[in-house]
Amino acid sequence: MTNHSKNLPKTDVLSGIQPTGNLHLGNLFGAITNWVDLQNRYKCAFCVVDYHALTTVPDAQELKANTESIVIDLLACGIDPNRSILFVQSDVPEHLELYWIFASLTRYGELARMTQFKEKGGNRETVGLGVLNYPVLQAADILLYGASKVPVGEDQLQHLELTREILRRFNKTHGFLFEEVQALTTKVPRILDLKNPSAKMSKSHPEGAVFIDDEEGIVRKKVKKAVTDTGDDQQEMSPSIENLMGLLHACNQDQYNLMLDAYNSQNLRYGDLKVSLGNELCEYLKPIRESKNEWLQKKEEVREILFEGAKKASSIARPRVEIARKLVGLG
Ligand code: TRP
Repeated sequence: MTNHSKNLPKTDVLSGIQPTGNLHLGNLFGAITNWVDLQNRYKCAFCVVDYHALTTVPDAQELKANTESIVIDLLACGIDPNRSILFVQSDVPEHLELYWIFASLTRYGELARMTQFKEKGGNRETVGLGVLNYPVLQAADILLYGASKVPVGEDQLQHLELTREILRRFNKTHGFLFEEVQALTTKVPRILDLKNPSAKMSKSHPEGAVFIDDEEGIVRKKVKKAVTDTGDDQQEMSPSIENLMGLLHACNQDQYNLMLDAYNSQNLRYGDLKVSLGNELCEYLKPIRESKNEWLQKKEEVREILFEGAKKASSIARPRVEIARKLVGLG
């Protein structure tokens, strides 16, 4: 069988993030620090998925503002537009072209089975079609770039599995165009809500989330108010303490080792852990906040970066879409 993917331009890595508001530590340590690190080893493309966000952010002003602000956050965290392609999904119309081709190969049952769809009201008559089709667009995001590595959180593994199903079906039905993809999950465990350690940190519960541009006083206050445990159960570290320790580990391993030794010898005072974590987080976030302030002064440059990013993305996506169109009998 002809391999139509041969000699097509590609990236090694592709990932996407929804522009749903300010970045918090869950996004930072769960995804972005990993992206920054991957830039050193691979050719990467990072996409702000505003079409996806359209399924949950109905307000135009808000969507636009969120998109601008997350791009600045990504730059502040260290995504380097000279090394990686940073772009906004809706600037590259190829995403929608491939999306429809894929939608025609995807079954309703496969989409209705997705956990995220069910959680977002999949059983209601009024649920949006965009919510149902969300993973099809995600498959297009990934496969347009020939990316074989996709850094995602655990909650996206099901969507990746569906991406594989779609690409195999396409290849089998129309000819080999899409290479296999593999999820890269981060080592960092899920970052939990500081006030409610049974839930993930989320921007919808700001009192339990630390945002990357929170003032230092706020950061310390939020950490101070974090839920701990009674210290009675010495069998195993509780999720709340594990969460604080995990955050400390992400900021400063030496401090983490100190606190872990104290914990293991049953000498850890939670007050001390919180003071240490507050300090380390402030230290860690300081350059990010400073960089964010600088980027906020350079709006024109940011626009230029996105313009160039979309151009580079398109130059990779276009040839693959052209072949996909031909293989399915369009144009
Ligand atoms: N669905 C992903 C999330 O909510 C975001 C996303 C969209 C994505 N397209 C992608 C992630 C492509 C990886 C690759 O986190």
